[in-house]
Amino acid sequence: MVDWAVDNVEDTNSSVIDLGCGNGHLLLALSEEGFSNLTGIDYSESAIVLAKSVAKDRDLESIEYKAVDFLNSDEWRQDNKLYQVVLDKGTYDAISLNPEEEEAKKENKAGPRELYIQAVHRMISPDGVFLITSCNWTMEELKEAFKQYFRYHSHVKYPTFSFGGQTGSKICTVAFSPLKQ
Ligand SMILES: C[S@@+](CC[C@H](N)C(=O)[O-])C[C@H]1O[C@@H](n2cnc3c(N)ncnc32)[C@H](O)[C@@H]1O
Repeated sequence: MVDWAVDNVEDTNSSVIDLGCGNGHLLLALSEEGFSNLTGIDYSESAIVLAKSVAKDRDLESIEYKAVDFLNSDEWRQDNKLYQVVLDKGTYDAISLNPEEEEAKKENKAGPRELYIQAVHRMISPDGVFLITSCNWTMEELKEAFKQYFRYHSHVKYPTFSFGGQTGSKICTVAFSPLKQ
């Protein structure tokens, strides 16, 4: 993801948000590449405490961290700023496993996956890019799941393996551009 950002995001002052940032290692790596406008959110207060402390130890206190459940709150919003780059490594995977998805389907309500993609679309700048890494979904499945709000932009090529006549890779990293709503 870091290499993709270095190759595709020209302005290192672009606003970047990492959804479900955990201990913030992706943002630290981007900071090392010169990215300077970085925000990480996670609903785990303890992950945010740890991320802040790791950043402090490395003198990278300009990275903003906030404890936010972005499926249920827009508290990621600051001064109506939209993000040029929205990153997700493993968070959509985690959200997809939420048992509320099935409940929502039965009740014909928006489930966690729909709330997720709506939230990503609300926070991204119209000319921004959404970069997601998944271990649970293939690129085609992500394209299908997000097609109402995003179109395919590009993807990272990983080594592939063959098994039982099928060829694939264990993870995928896909970039999407937002569609106008
Ligand atoms: C699989 S972990 C990935 C963490 C990190 N991105 C990484 O690559 O190590 C998923 C993360 O998403 C966070 N998360 C899950 N649902 C969330 C939500 N609704 N709002 C904010 N964070 C969420 C979890 O707390 C967890 O840190």
